[in-house]
Parts: sequence; C-alpha cells; structure tokens
Amino acid sequence: MKVLVTGGLGFIGSHTVVELQNKGFEVVIIDDCSNSDESVLEGIEAITGKKPLFEKLDLKERQKVEDFFARHQDVEGVIHFAASKAVGESVEKPLLYYENNIGTLVYILKELCKKNKASFIFSSSCTVYGQADKMPITEDAPVKVAESPYGNTKQMGEEIIADTCKVTPYLNAIALRYFNPMGAHPSGEIGELPKGVPQNLVPFITQTGIGLRKELSVFGDDYPTPDGTCIRDYIYVVDLAKAHVVALERLLNGNNESNYEVFNVGTGKGSSVLEAIKSFEKVSGKKLNYKIVDRRPGDITTAYADTTKANEVLGWKAEYTLEEAMNYAWIWEQKIRD
Ligand code: UD1
Repeated sequence: MKVLVTGGLGFIGSHTVVELQNKGFEVVIIDDCSNSDESVLEGIEAITGKKPLFEKLDLKERQKVEDFFARHQDVEGVIHFAASKAVGESVEKPLLYYENNIGTLVYILKELCKKNKASFIFSSSCTVYGQADKMPITEDAPVKVAESPYGNTKQMGEEIIADTCKVTPYLNAIALRYFNPMGAHPSGEIGELPKGVPQNLVPFITQTGIGLRKELSVFGDDYPTPDGTCIRDYIYVVDLAKAHVVALERLLNGNNESNYEVFNVGTGKGSSVLEAIKSFEKVSGKKLNYKIVDRRPGDITTAYADTTKANEVLGWKAEYTLEEAMNYAWIWEQKIRD
C-alpha cells in the first residue's frame, strides 16, 4: 500500500516514515528541502533497511502536484506535514504562510477528490485552542481566534478539510492536533534539524547544553503556574509518529465513525519550562546556563491535552516520558555536533 508523506524529510515527517516502513507501507516522500536535508533519507534507510521513494518538489507548483498524482495513481493515503511553522515569521510574512500552508493543502485535496477513495491525515496543532479555559484540553474545547497567521493556517486548514469531506464521501480525513513534539529516534539516525536559531524550547536547550548557544532565555517566570513558567505537553516524536500510523490505518480499514475526525495528540501531562530544564540537566549531567527574561509575546500560560479520545477511539497512547524523550534529544544533539 503506497502512502505519500509530504514534508517527509522534516522532524515529525521522517519519524513517521520510519514507523510506516516498519509496518510495511511503501512510502513516497515529497519535500522541497526548504527546512530539511536530503541526507535524512540515509538515516531512514539506516533504521528501516529501506530508502523511501523521494521527489524534491515544491507543492506550490500546482502542475507538478497534478503530474505527481498522475504518475503515482496507486497512492491510497496521504500524510500532509509540509508546512511552514515559525509563529514569528508568519506574522512578518503572512502571505508566505497562507500560500505554503493553505494553497498547497487545496492542491492536494483537489487531487484526492479525483480519486474514488482516499485517506488523508493533516498536521494540526493545539494552537487552535489558544489559551483554553479548562485543562486538560478536550477536542470539543472551542477554537479561539488565532494569535498568528501560522495558527490561522491550522484553523483554516481544518475547516477546508471539514468542508471538503462534507461533499466528498469518499474522502476520509483525520486532523491530529499535536501538542509539543520533541526528542529524536532512539537509533540516533534521525532527529530535529532546526535551521538557524531554534525557536522551540527543546532544541534551544540541547544547543545550549552542547555550547552552540551561550544561554537559554526562559520567557517569563511570573505566569500563574506553580513555578511561574509556562506549562506545555511535551510529546515524544516517536509516539507522535505512531499516532499517524494508527490514524491512517483507522481510515484505510474503514474504522472511522465519520469521514472527518479530530484527535489531540499529547501525553496528558503538563511540564513547565523549568521542569524541562531540570530534565535536561538530569539526563546530560550538565548544568544548563539560563536566565529569566520577559515573557514572549503571544505565549499562552498552560496547554496540555486530554488524551481520552485518542486513547479510547484511536487505541493509541504516548509511552515515553519527558525525561526519556529529552535523553534521546541529547544523544542526537551530541551526535550531530561530533
Ligand atoms: C507553539 C504552538 C504550537 C506550534 C509551535 C510552532 C501553542 C500552544 N503552541 O508552541 O502549536 O506548533 O509554537 O513553533 O500555541 N521557551 C523559552 N525559551 C525559548 C523557547 C521557548 O522559555 O528559547 C518557552 C516558551 O515560552 C513556551 C515553552 O518554552 O513556554 C515552549 O515553547 P515552544 O517550544 O516555542 O513551543 P510553543 O510556543 O508551546
């Protein structure tokens, strides 16, 4: 069974390709390498013994997308990761985000609507909830007005898929709302490869630990949380990758209850920035250089998932702890700086 993974050379994409290949799926990757590297293919091959098919292609080029689907008519499922994801950049360059994240989604859905059966998994985000009123966050929590064009593309993306599914009974889709992915593959062959200065907490921690950055800035310690720093639900990337495989199988096996479903993908446990730092210090045996600075605009105080729906309906559960995930993130950081 052939599955297209867009953005399959990226952080979550590459880990998902590994899990798909481990389950016997034939994978074809589309990636434009704008935030990834072709060498990731070798990492995937080292883990699974198989190099996935790969086409370097910019999904904004509509004709090329059409040609791709004409050449790969046997694609039965699509997992769509390819997107831009830097919140700050999206404020600076909104049209880039709308074109990259919305335009390409429309092109892919148009191709899937030409088929008489297709399964589609969408990378969504807990950002759609904004600062939710209740913790843990359930899937029926209201979607809040987006704080950034990036967040807006995830909300709009979900709506576009829902609207399309309503009139396309042969299209089955699941949106996975990720909390905070982190870590790297236990083999040390693939992991996160942020280009430039990392925006996310965990790669910034490990880069500081290895000496690439002087110190970590902790954005605010005056939040209404036990230690004053923000709380997030850090999910191990391999757990997250497995959620995609389970979701895809649900659609391919026709086990879905409706042709558009939404699931939170998190651990259900919230950890503060200081707890994440402590966990790094424990697994690395190093003291992390950090200082408290002002809050980062747009940050919410607390977000962690209610995972009941994913646990019971998808039959998926996160297995790794923050510390285990941090350990793999650290092993990876040391390996790539060797
Ligand atoms: C946010 C979005 C997420 C989106 C991601 C894209 C929410 C709830 N989450 O994640 O959907 O996919 O951006 O990048 O809107 N921190 C520091 N110092 C740093 C970096 C981060 O203290 O140098 C803190 C942040 O203030 C935050 C936590 O670490 O409290 C996690 O930050 P980050 O990794 O950037 O993820 P989110 O902002 O939660």
